[in-house]
Amino acid sequence: MSPDISETFIQGMPKAELHIHIEGSLEPELMFELAGRNGVALRYASVEEVRRAYDFSDLQSFLDLYYEGMRVLLHEQDFYDLTRAYLQRISAQNVRHTEIFFDPQAHTDRGVPFETVVAGIRRALVDAEQQLGISSKLIMCFLRHLSAERAMETLRTSLPYREWIVGVGLDSSEVGHPPEDFKAVFDEAREHGLLTVAHAGEEGPPEYIWQALDDLKVSRIDHGVRCVEDPKLVERLREEQIPLTVCPLSNVKLRVFDSIQDHNLKRMLDLGLCVTANSDDPAYFGGYVDENFHAAWEGLHLSRDAVYRLAKNSFWASFLGAERKQRLLNELDDYFASHS
Ligand code: ADE
Ligand code: ZN
Repeated sequence: MSPDISETFIQGMPKAELHIHIEGSLEPELMFELAGRNGVALRYASVEEVRRAYDFSDLQSFLDLYYEGMRVLLHEQDFYDLTRAYLQRISAQNVRHTEIFFDPQAHTDRGVPFETVVAGIRRALVDAEQQLGISSKLIMCFLRHLSAERAMETLRTSLPYREWIVGVGLDSSEVGHPPEDFKAVFDEAREHGLLTVAHAGEEGPPEYIWQALDDLKVSRIDHGVRCVEDPKLVERLREEQIPLTVCPLSNVKLRVFDSIQDHNLKRMLDLGLCVTANSDDPAYFGGYVDENFHAAWEGLHLSRDAVYRLAKNSFWASFLGAERKQRLLNELDDYFASHS
């Protein structure tokens, strides 16, 4: 752990977040508020009881609670309030840019119209740009435990809102749902000019990362921590500097690694990979992006240079235009220069 880094240093450091599921930022307090407002019954008596339930054995045990929690989201204002609360949190952590995933099928399958979801999120993003100076992009994820046909229908439903969405992703239960199953959907998404990303190598094998690269033509891999099992894959990711949006606290909570000390984030940086640090589902995993930087720095004894690289990669790997990207990279360099 580098002594010239501190919690305050990390908090003030300009950074971007590239892997956050907006539904995973639903804090229990807001869950209760929305449940009351919308007349939705929860099976928990208190906020504390909800938090106590967040003891996961794997990805699926989390997803079960994640889909249950989001039943309180019904109206446009609910999606606005959810997104607004996340943006206020990250504003206090000096996150200057964020790329947000949303799971439309988890809402449309409950009867909530696509427009309700995307309009509420979008309104909060526009307000945050004006009021908090946070830029953002929206990435629509397909639920891979559902069929490719349903993903295709979702893509087509989204087209009237094409201008609000920068790309598509693939999330939910990984093992048994390989990226290659979604090749046609991703082909069509790219024909509409959408960028592509995919969760791969979180619980699934390196083969899924190969498929995400070759079949889905992704610009980034979400998680990707299992890439180290395949030296040829590491070489490809390093050569092409394919960004990996790693989520340290998530990986510990979902038992991908036994502890933060066992996490391979530092090893991946040392291998020359383009690694970033992100929160995934902050309300469920014990922290937003700062807490993830802090856990990685403290748990893995990251050097000042390693922390710098994580922050620099976050801007470099973003889907921002060249001008703002460069401005934020300069802001980061100024920050390090003025804290040396
Ligand atoms: N959806 C929300 N969080 C996820 C994760 N960590 N992996 C896959 N799907 C998710
Ligand atoms: Zn994720």
